Amino acid sequence: MFKHAIVRTPSPNISEGITSASLGKPVYEAALTQHAGYIAALESCGVTVHVLKAEPGYPDACFVEDTAVLAERVAIITNPGAPTRKGEEETVEAALRDFYPGDHIEHIAAPGTLEGGDVMRVGDHFYVGLSARTNEEGARQFFHFLGKHGYTGSTVTLHEMLHLKTGLAYLEDNLLLTAGEFISHPELVNFRTILIEMKDAYSANCIYVNGTVLIPAGYPVTKAKIEALGLPTREVEVSEFRKIDGGLSCLSLRF
Ligand code: GLY
Repeated sequence: MFKHAIVRTPSPNISEGITSASLGKPVYEAALTQHAGYIAALESCGVTVHVLKAEPGYPDACFVEDTAVLAERVAIITNPGAPTRKGEEETVEAALRDFYPGDHIEHIAAPGTLEGGDVMRVGDHFYVGLSARTNEEGARQFFHFLGKHGYTGSTVTLHEMLHLKTGLAYLEDNLLLTAGEFISHPELVNFRTILIEMKDAYSANCIYVNGTVLIPAGYPVTKAKIEALGLPTREVEVSEFRKIDGGLSCLSLRF
């Protein structure tokens, strides 16, 4: 069960966030409204949400998931692979010090890079996507810290998506939501899967929160496939964040 989530209020300059999309620039006021809806959705799942102040110097800083990976026994502070995002992790670490003792906080260091969006937890095992943001040295350091605190990890190669969880979501009970290059991926073969068509690929970025699957608004086929397996869903509007390659998972750290 998740008890807490950390989120960060979108920056006034969110329109300058990194993007590969052609959906226009996010509108700050609309992003704030959607962010409030996201917080409400987490709270409806029984999570206490801690809201960090906006970081005007970091247009992507609302995507706090990329700055740390959290488990019961360790918080691993990342070294983001995107140059404009390096430094976001400092204020997240300061917040995490209220929850983790110093000897349970570890750090990915250069030349290692790793972003939390590339990490998918399945029980006590962590899959790490090797992407444009997460390199082999980052994964090596990450696995070292996992081992030190009693967890395991393995890598997944990706070529097309921004992050591992751009196209994957673990919905517990060995169930994986998969899209695009992750469908039939050789490193992900032992799961039950829900396959998402390419036109709905954005909706593969869902989050399972205490028995409910939060899904992006506007994907009725994905919603129906998840509900057909007995999982309740709640739609959350995140279209402003999609414009800068963000989604449901990257908007919070859940622990
Ligand atoms: N705009 C989100 C990211 O590229 O990290």
